[in-house]
Amino acid sequence: AEAQTVATRKWQVPFGAALRSGPLANEADYRSVFAAYCDQVVSEGGLKWFDLRPSIERFDFSEGDRYLAFAQANRMLLRGHTLVWHGALPPWAEAIDSAAIAEREMVRHIETVVGHYRGKIANWDVVNEAIADDPKTAPGLRDGLWLRQLGPRYIALAFRTAAKADPGAKLILNDYDIEFVGDRFRRKREAFLRLIRSLRADNVPLHGVGLQGHLSENQIDQAGLTAFASEVKAMGLEFMVTELDVVDNKMPGPPELRDMVVAARVHDFLGAIFAAIRPSAVLTWGITDKYSWVPIYFKRGDGLPNRPLPFDVHYKPKPMMQVIEHFCR
Ligand code: G3I
Repeated sequence: AEAQTVATRKWQVPFGAALRSGPLANEADYRSVFAAYCDQVVSEGGLKWFDLRPSIERFDFSEGDRYLAFAQANRMLLRGHTLVWHGALPPWAEAIDSAAIAEREMVRHIETVVGHYRGKIANWDVVNEAIADDPKTAPGLRDGLWLRQLGPRYIALAFRTAAKADPGAKLILNDYDIEFVGDRFRRKREAFLRLIRSLRADNVPLHGVGLQGHLSENQIDQAGLTAFASEVKAMGLEFMVTELDVVDNKMPGPPELRDMVVAARVHDFLGAIFAAIRPSAVLTWGITDKYSWVPIYFKRGDGLPNRPLPFDVHYKPKPMMQVIEHFCR
């Protein structure tokens, strides 16, 4: 498809980051760093139900269309986040209380949104965060509106509907917290693999696996992550890193030291993935420490600013960026 080709590729492994609408509209430096570094972009919001579906009747594409215009003007691919998720639902959707309405609205949503961006969004997070945080028993799916109303079949239905709406788009199953040392994370990794295998067995049009990569003080289970990425590769699927950043509220205080610890964690993570597979893209969840969800959800206790992303608040590249360059350039 047309959206799959970029005229100028800056990286061997396409790098990119998540956009926000405020600075995109108001800050030239913000736009410049994206234009200089990114092959692919995604938006932090704007393509979530909360933004697209102000009411059950109305679709509002205004924010998404602005990200698309920026991506096209700068010859970047745009990825879509996200079609089906338990989060960021508007109140009217949270209140859906029948399977018939849930199915009708989910299908209509995917047909309308993927149809609107047909040929223009390169890949979609079709289902986001389907696996429970501590899946003790199979299948280990996360509780939420879609599972409650439709049962596990909502996942295959979402992928099949998206494939019909844009046969050229790559369809991704995206999740998080499978890369750390510990039983809980191993169980989540196993449940994620179980779901991927069962979708494949049912011939569901799944093209790739997205790993968000919200890293933290937790150690990376490098052997486990490499084995996971190898399995994904053996199944012939793409592998993408979709939301890389480092939640640094439990890491050392001094910024210079913390930046090194953050970079080392990213090195462990990307190293384990690249040992198995060349990802189809690596995207960070924001580009500058100035705009990140991390200080809102994980503010430090010592009064020092969080530094979760590859550029600092003055758009100076940090050691994390060097690590990404090492793997992707
Ligand atoms: O836009 C309103 C603004 O008008 C208002 O003044 C402000 C006051 O709270 O809220 C603003 O909306 C916030 C929105 O982000 C835009 O910044 C929402 O409250 C807030 O809930 C929303 O959070 C986003 C969250 O997903 C939920 O949609 C985060 O920015 C975004 O980084 C986060 O991203 C998620 C991925 O989608 C999935 N993976 C995990 C990742 C991090 O949580």
